[in-house]
Amino acid sequence: MIRQTVGRPKVSVVRSAPFASRLIQWQLVYGRHSLPWQGTRDPYAIWISEIMLQQTQVSTVIPYYERFMAAFPNVASLASVSVEEVLTLWSGLGYYSRGRNLHRAACMLMEQYNGMFPRDVAALQQLPGIGRSTAAAIAAFAFGERCTILDGNVKRILARYFGVNRYPGEKITEERLWHLAEGLLPVGEDHETMTSYTQALMDLGALICVRTQPCCQYCPLQADCNAYQNDLTAILPVPRPRKILPVKEIVHLILLNQGQVLLKKRQASGIWGGLWCFPEITVDQDGIDYCKKNLYLRATKLTELPHLKHTFTHFKLIIRPQLLQSVMHQPVCEESSRKDDCLWLTIEEALQQAIPAPVKKLLLMTQPVLQSCIHE
Ligand code: ADE
Repeated sequence: MIRQTVGRPKVSVVRSAPFASRLIQWQLVYGRHSLPWQGTRDPYAIWISEIMLQQTQVSTVIPYYERFMAAFPNVASLASVSVEEVLTLWSGLGYYSRGRNLHRAACMLMEQYNGMFPRDVAALQQLPGIGRSTAAAIAAFAFGERCTILDGNVKRILARYFGVNRYPGEKITEERLWHLAEGLLPVGEDHETMTSYTQALMDLGALICVRTQPCCQYCPLQADCNAYQNDLTAILPVPRPRKILPVKEIVHLILLNQGQVLLKKRQASGIWGGLWCFPEITVDQDGIDYCKKNLYLRATKLTELPHLKHTFTHFKLIIRPQLLQSVMHQPVCEESSRKDDCLWLTIEEALQQAIPAPVKKLLLMTQPVLQSCIHE
């Protein structure tokens, strides 16, 4: 990412002004002002952006946000479609529970609030997928409520500013950070101030107080930042204690036939719930036998593709992809077809479905193989 601060003059804000005033002054000059979700007070638009921006970078979010808002411009339109339609637009963004929760929350907003948003943080937090920090962002941006955000970036800023030498994800430290963050809020209840302050915290975390090599020379908080003054920016915040994640290995069967691949819809619960994936077996199952017994398909093994690794919060997944040629095409699996959970698709069609990121990678790896099969 190109830091927007490059080539800019060092900041000259009033050092003795309170934390919030310094941040707001800095944001007016150096902050971001033309992101597609800025300049609106529509809680729906703000909510969608905040959910997409959880765990995902701004540059990735922008095209997804624009497509999503064009397809579902308000709560009613989102609640009126199936969750599959939402997940299709979400495809590629990852963390699909966010898409499922958006849909559930839209339905709840229709039922409980007539499609409107409650303005207070406590009520917003009752909606699926909205945690304390996201609720505060919506309330501050949409309603000018005087409440603080505390996402990962803000935890980093405050851990440095106050010299907090404990891991910020730890419950007790997190509570302390909430308390400190609340003490820094600007005084007064003016909407514009809350919008600028909240955006300033986000911008400082994204542009200046970044994880590695923060740009302290451009920081409006430099003069009284504990970590800067004590040369601790490289070691604060204290990182998450290393936990060895369990590893799970699975096999994905990539079945080819007449220029198409077979995708199977996963059950609603579990990883990638409701998304389209390749049929999955355990490492000690036989792929050909599985196809015969479960998909009513005769298949021959072509080759194995390189392993793919994917890290979830609680475990690491190793996917061993097996490429198989299916001998019979239709009816594939009568039972499954009837249940609508198996589809033969071209790679281009498959890429348009709600698919998790590793399946997308595998489809792209399969594309040249499939093309060479067609031309044989
Ligand atoms: N990250 C989370 N919310 C954001 C926002 N509103 N603008 C930019 N980055 C963000």
